[in-house]
Amino acid sequence: MVGFHRTQSLLSCEGVPLDTVADAVGTPLHIYSRAVLLTRFRELDVAFVDYPHDLHYAIKANATLAVVREMRAAGAHADANSGGEIDVALRAGFSPDQIVFTGVGKTHDELVRAVTLGVKAINAESPGEMERIDAIARAHGICARVAVRINPDVDAGSHPHISTGHRSNKFGMTAARAHAMVTSMAAREHLKVVGLHVHVGSQITSVDPLRLAVAAIVDLATTLAAEGIALEHLDVGGGLGIAYQPGQATLTVDEYAAAVLTAVRHTGLRLVLEPGRWIAGPAGVLLTRVVDLKAQEDGRWFVIVDAGMTDLIRPALYGAWHGIDVVAPRDGAEIDCDVVGPVCESSDILGQARRLPPVAVGDLLAVRDTGAYGAIMASNYNRRPVAAEVLVDGNDWRVVRRRQTIDDMLQWDE
Ligand SMILES: Cc1ncc(COP(=O)(O)O)c(C=O)c1O
Repeated sequence: MVGFHRTQSLLSCEGVPLDTVADAVGTPLHIYSRAVLLTRFRELDVAFVDYPHDLHYAIKANATLAVVREMRAAGAHADANSGGEIDVALRAGFSPDQIVFTGVGKTHDELVRAVTLGVKAINAESPGEMERIDAIARAHGICARVAVRINPDVDAGSHPHISTGHRSNKFGMTAARAHAMVTSMAAREHLKVVGLHVHVGSQITSVDPLRLAVAAIVDLATTLAAEGIALEHLDVGGGLGIAYQPGQATLTVDEYAAAVLTAVRHTGLRLVLEPGRWIAGPAGVLLTRVVDLKAQEDGRWFVIVDAGMTDLIRPALYGAWHGIDVVAPRDGAEIDCDVVGPVCESSDILGQARRLPPVAVGDLLAVRDTGAYGAIMASNYNRRPVAAEVLVDGNDWRVVRRRQTIDDMLQWDE
């Protein structure tokens, strides 16, 4: 069975009961389903099958090497957002010509690395960055492949912290500025403008922001083509949202593909997509054990667990909602509760105002849809070691990232 489901009443991942893994590895623990990762990758790929495209898995969503390797084996290319993510991509087996490099504020060293590796495209975020790429390429006697990131001034409709395409956001540049820049730099010997890039945010659940974003780069590509500047690809970024809450309205992959392809098809340009959350989010859960139960004055409970904002920061950072399931539910009356972590911050809440089956100290809970922007956003705050990660494949499972030890954590200290 693909993904997370109940066998009898026990929550399992594929053929593996979750309590077995928690007993063996301890908690907190991130668990990923290989089948979900691969199924979702293929579903997205198939939606674009009748148009030339490359799915560049957004490593930022989940950069655990085993996960990134699965993506490469499935046929993905890579989207890196830092020098570190370029290294993850290379170690996972991607070749430089399969990597696009995005990110506001790329350092000199990161640009040197990307230029000398010869990545498929450096998505340039500003005229200054284009000049720096040009200077580096000239100094090394190479021609750098660049794409220009457009900020189309679009409201993504998602949380402001994960919206990137409004004019007040730091990302990209206006189409007018990009146009002027590309035409003035088109003849440079050491720069080749190969594409345009847009990414207006993450967890986008309606089609309009994506349609407007794609239209912005299609319009500019069409203008440039008329002026004799031919591009190779259009990079429409990531952003496709998932349903964190039961019944939450989202776009289907087919609706997404239809919107993108309707806008892009007439250009004939190869399509680059940078999906992250849609592939990895539903492939993971965070397993955590109840360490205490405390009655609140209003009759509700604090269910205090051993995972917190250091293991999953999305609720504290964005007010994000994640489903929470009891792995082996007990019989009895449900309780009203807040599921909170042990970190010394009142924002350390994994789920507020929840109704759960009765729980006792030692019971296991599974926080759902944590495969993207979960483990990768972990921190050592409160000197808490980073959780282990497990990949389940059918009836088998293995630790793909061991739990950090106190010695690991302190090894950088004097
Ligand atoms: C430039 C870029 N590409 C791709 C992504 C992946 O987005 P998502 O995980 O929403 O698909 C992001 C994330 O915000 C991003 O910043």
